Parts: sequence; C-alpha cells; structure tokens
Amino acid sequence: MKQTYVYAHRGSSGTHPENTLAAFRAAIQCGADGIELDVQMTKDGEVVVIHDEQVDRTTNGEGWICDMTYAQLATLDAGSWFDPAFSNEQIPTLNNVLTICKDTNVMINIELKNDRIRYEGMEKLVVQKVRDYHMEKQVVLSSFFHESLTVVHRLAPELETAILYERPLREPWKQAIECHATAIHAPKQFVSSGYIIQAKKYRQAIRVFTVNIEKEMKELCEMKVDAIITDFPEQAIQIL
Ligand code: G3P
Ligand code: MG
Repeated sequence: MKQTYVYAHRGSSGTHPENTLAAFRAAIQCGADGIELDVQMTKDGEVVVIHDEQVDRTTNGEGWICDMTYAQLATLDAGSWFDPAFSNEQIPTLNNVLTICKDTNVMINIELKNDRIRYEGMEKLVVQKVRDYHMEKQVVLSSFFHESLTVVHRLAPELETAILYERPLREPWKQAIECHATAIHAPKQFVSSGYIIQAKKYRQAIRVFTVNIEKEMKELCEMKVDAIITDFPEQAIQIL
C-alpha cells in the first residue's frame, strides 16, 4: 500500500528556525520524504528562501526583500529570533538549498511567493536553477498565484506544479487542470474522503498543509492523501 509522504513545512520548522539550512538539514536527517520552502526575490534578482515579503519577523533586520540586495540580506541573522543557539543561520538562497538536497532522495516543494508581490521573471529564474542542478524530477513548484503555474508549465512542461489555495474553492481540481498542475496543496480543513475521491478522478495528487496534530495526521493517512506538510516531520514519521 502506498504510504502518505511526510513533507517538512519550511523545513523542520517546529524545532528549528523556519526556512534555514538548519531546518532543512534536520528534516533530511530525520527521514522526511520532502521539504517545503518559500521563495522571494531580492532587488538584484537573487532567489532567496524566506516566507514573508519583509525580513522583520524572522531576522534581526527590517524592510522589504524586494528593496534589498542579496549582499544586504546576507548580513542578517535568521536564527536568533527562534533561539540564540541558531544565531549563525542566514537567509539561504535557493541554490544553497538545492545544493544540500542534490545527493539525497528528498523531494523539494518550492513555493513561489508571488501572490502579494509579482516578482518579474521569478518563474524563469527558478526553472533555470532547477535545470542547472538537474533536479527536475526532485521538485514540485507551487503557488497561490495560479497564473504563475501556467507560466512555469509553458517554460518547463517537465516540472510538476501544484495549486495552493487558502479560502474555499469550488472544485479545485478543475482549477488545477486549467493551469496544467497535477497536484493540489490543500488546507487541511477542506479535505475529506469525498474530496479525495473527486480529486483522484481528475488525477490530482493531494498534499495537505499544515498538519501538526497527531489525530489529523492519522486521519489524513487513512484517507490516503499523498502527503502531509508538517512543521514536525520527525513526529509525523513516528506516528505514521
Ligand atoms: O505550501 C503549503 C504552505 O506552505 C502554504 O502556506 O503560508 O505556510 O507558505 P504558507
Ligand atoms: Mg509555504
């Protein structure tokens, strides 16, 4: 029987500062099947791994990433806000993360954070990096901004893409097909057995976020979702 895979949301972000190399290494080490990460773009066109559009919440700096150069971002401490033990963590580039995943079997879900800021050319840059690393089979690109997935498909039909959504969406599988996605990354509150049946009719993989509670992990596993995306991959692996 096919198992439900475990993806580490922003890395092992329940126990490490989110979206840092420490969090991704921990996820790989504990045996996560995949990692999820968020990408934004600097003023000088570097693709960096950070959830928010501003650095304020997860670093010791302040300001918008789109107004800063990578050299400026690289001086920031991206770990101390979580725990002073992680004060050496920096905001990684996408290249940094691809490098540490390259010789592993871990899947990489790159979430394009272009729903609030339409970063010009982000899709092309990300596709190019995945190709440079020859990691086409190891990545899934997702976004809340579905038009971006159509762009990715046009640029790189070989890459798997997934729609994301957070408000109720009627028949998300139809929306996925419209933008050539083959997976739906769904908020846990919308997923039920009936939902899975419908999605499977449209050949969509279902990965559910953000699942941190044991009971929900077990229920979703019984429903045979393709993956859960969790802040606590180590716990999830033990439970499932
Ligand atoms: O990809 C699932 C999840 O990461 C989407 O929400 O806000 O955590 O990026 P967010
Ligand atoms: Mg995300």
